[in-house]
Order: sequence, then structure tokens, then C-alpha cells
Amino acid sequence: MNVSWDSLNEMIESCQKCDLCREINHKVPGQGDPHARLMLIGEGPGFEEDRSGLAFVGPAGQLLTKMLLSIGMNREDVYICNIVKCRPPHNRIPEPDEAAACLPYLRMQFALVRPRVIMLLGATAGRYTLGDNFRVTRDRGRFVLKSGIWFMPTYHPSALLRDETGVKKREAWQDLQAVRDKLAELDTVE
Ligand code: URA
Repeated sequence: MNVSWDSLNEMIESCQKCDLCREINHKVPGQGDPHARLMLIGEGPGFEEDRSGLAFVGPAGQLLTKMLLSIGMNREDVYICNIVKCRPPHNRIPEPDEAAACLPYLRMQFALVRPRVIMLLGATAGRYTLGDNFRVTRDRGRFVLKSGIWFMPTYHPSALLRDETGVKKREAWQDLQAVRDKLAELDTVE
């Protein structure tokens, strides 16, 4: 794995592998600690992210910041990115060909950051990293070990913002605690 952060960011910046890049204001590669032990992956940039070029800075991102603080972490401690680096029109779910075009960049980000744990935020992040059979309501909350990385699927923060019953919020809180505990456990064996 020879790519550097600079060349990866240039590749993303100049990418025209799918049509998503046609109508955006900014690419949103991702940001945070380049050697974070915890990485978070969402679906794709929204309105605020497209305007700023930064992942998870809108309402879902503000909730994500609070979620991280609840397990004693700051955004600067983690690496945050998305399955696709360009905003899909009207925030629609990325199409399989769009995700496929962008996934090599995510793989390069895995290789550069080398996180111990990855939180998958929502169905799209789950499907494109764990496979087509992934269902967030069924599969969230259980770690999957893949290529030496512990993946924890959970709800997307946007789903938590819409969660009127509080059930998903409670489950996401359990998932976060499991991530905190896994990081602590990995600390003791490293
Ligand atoms: N939703 C996502 O999936 N990613 C972002 O960066 C913002 C909102």
C-alpha cells in the first residue's frame, strides 16, 4: 500500500468516475486523526457537507459529535468519512455503481488510517462494507471481525434524529458502549 494522503486526496479531488461529481460544490473526502483507532463511516455528504467539504457537520454530524462525547471521545480523536465522497442529488441513497466507483478510496483510507474499530453508520455503510445481505435492524450491535478490523454496525445518526420512540437511541447507546469497551479491551492486549 504505497499511496500517501496527498495523492489519495488528489485522486478524490480529480475523480470523475461517476456522475455524482457533476453537480456538487465540494468533494468530501473525510477528516480527523489520520491514525485514529476508531473510524466512522456514513453514507454520503449532505447539504452542509457539500457546502463545507467536511463530513458530518450538519444536524446528523452534530448528534454524532454528542454521541462521541458520551464515550469520552472528541471528533479530533477519530477519522470520519463516507461511502461516497460526493453528495448524491437530494440526499438520495448512492446507487451501486456510484458506491463501487468510490469504494477504492475508502479501502485506501482503511489502509492509511489502520483503525482497530470501525463504526458503520446506517444501512448503506453496512451494505457496502459487510455485503448485500446486511440489514441494519437485524445486524446492528454485533461486531464483525474482517481483515483484522472490528466492524460495529449501528444506526445512522439521521435515523436517531427521526426516532420518536427512543428505542433506536437506546440501542445506539449500547453500540457505542460496546465500541468503547472494545477499544479498551484492545488496549490491554496491544
Ligand atoms: N450523512 C452522512 O451519511 N454523511 C455525512 O457526512 C453527513 C450526513
